[in-house]
Amino acid sequence: MSLLDKVNNTKELIAEKYNGDIDFAIVLGSGLGDLANRIENPITIPYSDIPGFPKATVVGHKGELIIGELSGKKVLAFNGRFHYYEGHNMKDVTIGIRVAQKLNIKNLIISNAAGGMNPEFKPGDLMVITDHINMTGDNPLIGENIEEFGPRFPDMSSCYDKEYINKVKEIGTNLGINLVEGVYTAVTGPNYESPSELRMLRIIGGDAVGMSTVPEVIVASHGSMRILGISVITDMALWDTLEPLEHSAVIATANKAKDKFIKLIEEFIMEV
Ligand code: HPA
Repeated sequence: MSLLDKVNNTKELIAEKYNGDIDFAIVLGSGLGDLANRIENPITIPYSDIPGFPKATVVGHKGELIIGELSGKKVLAFNGRFHYYEGHNMKDVTIGIRVAQKLNIKNLIISNAAGGMNPEFKPGDLMVITDHINMTGDNPLIGENIEEFGPRFPDMSSCYDKEYINKVKEIGTNLGINLVEGVYTAVTGPNYESPSELRMLRIIGGDAVGMSTVPEVIVASHGSMRILGISVITDMALWDTLEPLEHSAVIATANKAKDKFIKLIEEFIMEV
């Protein structure tokens, strides 16, 4: 099935269950899936019921799409995402964003768990993503350009919406939630980085490192969506004092930070 067919079919499948306007698409990162439980009047569609959707295989990721209300707005949440390291190609990794675009959703809130490379960060911090570096060596826009999705050579001078960055920082201040900000670097994984890799990523300007988000943001930006990106800093990825890291520790720290993440996102959706 072509990408366009997969996207159109998924749109039809969703439209059979809900066909009103949706304000926000939300991608929930590792350990942050509980935000989905806050969605009222939920319509849930497991990814396994969507022909053309790959299967999410990672522990800590659920694999379903939820449509409902959050803070009085209509949202479509992706609880569980597709990663390049699972063996999916970049078009499959980003298919949910194309579906959101087809549904005419104009706003994307995207989250992830990431390693902190900025020594001023602490595990459990929330980082507002101000920019990114694509270090995956691949790009979801490679191949024939589908003009209805966006231009061949999209601008990427300000993917992360400046107004949204300012708004979320203001909300953080008002709620007493400490926010840091910085540049997210995306690698493929699945291994965590070696010290020398972390040193390189820090030198080139990264504040956090993770294995997701950038492909989806490239696609959402191609589709002219307004984007807010939040990383939960789950571990310190400091090249000179690096400790061994396990996925279970990443999930545990993300879980500890999830309540403030949920509060922040709910307030953001209410106010925007
Ligand atoms: N590196 C890469 N990805 C991650 C990390 C990390 O340290 N922490 C959470 N996701």
